[in-house]
Amino acid sequence: VSKVISKQDQQKMINVAHRGASGHAPENTMGAFHKGFEMKADYIEIDVQMTKDGELVVIHDTTVDRTTNGTGKVGDLTFEEIRQLDAGSWFSEAYAGEKVPTFEEVLDAFRGKVGILIELKAPELYPGIEEKIADALIERNMEKTSNGKIIMQSFNHESMEKSKELLPNLPHGILVGASWANVTEEQLAEFADYADYFNPTMNIVTDELVSDVHEAGMEIYPYTSRSQEQALRLFDLNVDGIITDYTEHVYYHPVKNQ
Ligand code: G3P
Ligand code: CA
Repeated sequence: VSKVISKQDQQKMINVAHRGASGHAPENTMGAFHKGFEMKADYIEIDVQMTKDGELVVIHDTTVDRTTNGTGKVGDLTFEEIRQLDAGSWFSEAYAGEKVPTFEEVLDAFRGKVGILIELKAPELYPGIEEKIADALIERNMEKTSNGKIIMQSFNHESMEKSKELLPNLPHGILVGASWANVTEEQLAEFADYADYFNPTMNIVTDELVSDVHEAGMEIYPYTSRSQEQALRLFDLNVDGIITDYTEHVYYHPVKNQ
């Protein structure tokens, strides 16, 4: 029996659908993004790369092998070749025929409906990708910060510095893995020169890290929660948002110490 919790006894948490609602639909497909939107995520997270002929596409791995019926590197295939692939059957037959989306079609389908957390995936493989992404956003008047609904992020921190110059009004995020568990206040202050978010693997999140990130003037959205227990731990650590495969784990939570 679920207990009804009043609004003031709930902790607000930004809910990010990782690669779309990827626990329920094939990651980085329109199906997964629609599912995230339907499930009322605050943001859908997308991974952007570039084809051989310069089209921006939404896919996580640098090869198409795991999430489509094709093989090869994203950067060695043309858009036409990638577009022919089936990006849904690996997940379930119900999603057979899903395509690898373009960045622009995701922007056009979801702008104004749900936030978009845009990850530049391996941008070092795609010279000029920062400019292309910026152009697509500027063409649509989506480069303004006013609605707070577009965030850029990458594990490639130089790419974020560059992107911040191209898109100074958009918030940017630093993604880090476990090797950053002992990030110093000085390093955080340097990131804060161009970044608004410090988004670590959830395994290194502690009370101290959360307060250091806040002290540096940034917010923290750890990745990737895949169980209710993991999400509740992050709620208790007072992070600002949770990047999750299961949107339903990150609705509201009774305020700490209740
Ligand atoms: O949004 C952060 C998260 O997506 C980073 O890891 O490998 O899922 O892109 P990955
Ligand atoms: Ca990602």
